Amino acid sequence: MPLSNKHLLGLQGVSKEDINLILDTAKTFREVLERPIKKVPTLQGKTIVNLFYESSTRTRISFELAEKRLSADTVNFAVSTSSVNKGESLKDTIRNIEAMKIDMVVIRHSAAGTPLYLTKVCDASIINAGDGIHEHPTQALLDMYSIRERAGKLKGLKICIVGDIAHSRVALSNVFGLITMGAKVSVCGPATMIPRRIDELGVNVIHDIDEAIQENDILNVLRIQLERKAGANFPSLREYATYFGITQDRLERNRKDILILHPGPINRGIEISSEVADGSDQIILTQVTNGVAVRMAVLYLLGTQN
Ligand code: CP
Repeated sequence: MPLSNKHLLGLQGVSKEDINLILDTAKTFREVLERPIKKVPTLQGKTIVNLFYESSTRTRISFELAEKRLSADTVNFAVSTSSVNKGESLKDTIRNIEAMKIDMVVIRHSAAGTPLYLTKVCDASIINAGDGIHEHPTQALLDMYSIRERAGKLKGLKICIVGDIAHSRVALSNVFGLITMGAKVSVCGPATMIPRRIDELGVNVIHDIDEAIQENDILNVLRIQLERKAGANFPSLREYATYFGITQDRLERNRKDILILHPGPINRGIEISSEVADGSDQIILTQVTNGVAVRMAVLYLLGTQN
């Protein structure tokens, strides 16, 4: 059964059936990753370009590994050594790359809407690897995969996304995906970091982190995005850590059996303490492992549509 769309631009409007198809397909690829030879010939002959205009460790390496595990030919575009530095536009860049006969583009860009723009100017399948503060769909899919793997379901689970909601593409993709899958979603953070009218998406807003811990099964803790000037939204990092940081003391005071996710990279000692980030309640590195399988599933489903 194919996906309903040729591109993966975000999870807004993506159906429950499509999300289940991606998560179920990822399960089979997760098994491939446990084999001595972690490679299948599924995308042999397909060419995929990874266009990363913004920094990344996890997503870039995860996509590249997923492409190699599927036997696709991959090309990594490094902005710092490209003709972007000579003033070449995004449109000219992608049209020149497409002229070399490619099938799919994975794009990360600081400007929201860039993946959608690429669908208008080239014929390849476009996968959004994070566009500004808009969406990061494969991160939310791997978060949902990891939650489902641990809890056995998504429907009815109480999941709170904590922290810098306003600057977070991870938050928005999680909200769209989790609500579609029937989870009860809340967000928690300082009022300055919660977008106005977010409740209209079906999300409950909590401003007290202790209440968020008590009332939820899962916390997805977000990074404070200092590069997007998030620090201007509260008096100091120390105060943020005091009032919203997830520490072992705070978990034990409220409720211990809770599952902690974090998309990374982590600001240790700010949104999460090292004790929690390395402790027994978290699945942070499991998320990273599952990310390769989820991206294999997305690439496979989009790359074998025609
Ligand atoms: N979670 C995430 O997107 O990490 P990177 O920025 O390292 O890709």
